[in-house]
Amino acid sequence: MRRRMLVLVMAGGVLVAGPSLAADDDPRQVVDLPPKVAEQLRAEMRDHLAGLDDAVQALAAGDLVTLEEVAEVRLSFGHHLWQRLLDDGMPLAEVIALKHRLAEAGVGPGSLARTDQAGQPEVLQQRMRDHLSEAERARVARVIGGGQGMGPGRHLPAEMRAMGFALHDAADNLAEAARAGDPAAMLDSLAEVTTACRSCHAVYRLK
Ligand code: HEC
Repeated sequence: MRRRMLVLVMAGGVLVAGPSLAADDDPRQVVDLPPKVAEQLRAEMRDHLAGLDDAVQALAAGDLVTLEEVAEVRLSFGHHLWQRLLDDGMPLAEVIALKHRLAEAGVGPGSLARTDQAGQPEVLQQRMRDHLSEAERARVARVIGGGQGMGPGRHLPAEMRAMGFALHDAADNLAEAARAGDPAAMLDSLAEVTTACRSCHAVYRLK
């Protein structure tokens, strides 16, 4: 496929194949974020690409435990918090159980972001604290620190944020499919994940 494109490019006598690089022709909407947030978003993006690669590798190797883990804690809602808890030494199974418990109570990361209380991380933290044991509360507070630990999502325009939700929802479907050991559902939800990446990239760029 790649060879055929190269042949076409050479036959056409042009040097650049694929999307035009001229800014004037760029149809994507520019999102103007504070420099630190833009930096955080880019770092998160690189991590998403690594997570996507790990998911595909795990699927190819038939390693459903890793596939579930990657989808559940690296590509889903709250990945900053889950990662911090893992780094803090909380076992993966506990992190996943905590995530499910909060989601079932309707107070997990992402639940608030979908409402008009988005952009108020302290509300989310309070709601989460209400549903955690004292030990968990102390731990979450310690890893979150003074209001940190939240992703760049709250700085994004609502439509863009919704495209981020689509990615995280697709990741939850992938984790569920891995748990169920359902190959067709795994491929379907992996395709949902990559479509979510692609859709947002087609519409937005940073300044
Ligand atoms: C909610 C929107 C959105 C979603 C969803 C999204 N991205 Fe991005 N991504 C962006 C934007 C905006 C940029 C910056 C593009 C630019 O300025 O040209 C970006 C940039 C990137 C970059 C370049 C990072 C750098 O260092 O410059 C990578 C890699 C990337 N995304 C991978 C992914 C992958 C993989 C997925 C899916 C698993 C994904 N993205 C999902 C919005 C998104």
